[in-house]
Amino acid sequence: MLPKPEIIQFDKIGDDAIGYISIAETNTEIVPFEIKRVYWTYFTPETIPRGHHAHLELHQLIIAVNGVIDFRLEDRDGNKFNFILDHPSKVLYIPPGYWRTIYFKEQAVLLCLASEIYDESDYIRNYDEFKNR
Ligand code: TYD
Repeated sequence: MLPKPEIIQFDKIGDDAIGYISIAETNTEIVPFEIKRVYWTYFTPETIPRGHHAHLELHQLIIAVNGVIDFRLEDRDGNKFNFILDHPSKVLYIPPGYWRTIYFKEQAVLLCLASEIYDESDYIRNYDEFKNR
C-alpha cells in the first residue's frame, strides 16, 4: 500500500519549567528515510499561500517550529487532507505525489527534513499536469 500523509506525534523530553526537546534521527522508525536536506521557511505573510507544487520522489517531514501552519494536501484522485501544525512536537509526514498549499499563521517558521537534496526536476509545478499524469 502506498504511504499516506499523516501527523506523527514526536516525543517531548522536558517539562513546562525548563521547556522541551524533540528529536528526529535519520533512518529510524519515526523518520522512515535518510535525511539528506534540511530547510526552513519564514517571514511569510499570512495573506500569502505557498507551495503550489507536488513532488515525484521526495519524502518530507514538516514541523512548525514556531507559530501555526495550515497544510492542505491533495492526491491525484482528488482526495484532500488538511493538517494544522500548531505544536513543535507535531510532525507532518508527506510521501511523494501530493499537491500542497501552505498557509503560514502567527509568524510561522516551517522546518522541513527531506529525503533528497534539491532537484527542480522532482517538482510538478503545474496543477493540471499533476492531475493528468
Ligand atoms: P519552493 O520549494 O517552491 O518553496 P514553497 O513551496 O515554500 O513556495 O522553493 C522556493 C524557491 O527556493 C524556489 O526557487 C526553489 C528554491 N529552493 C532551493 O533552491 N533549494 C531548496 O532546497 C528549496 C526547498 C527551494
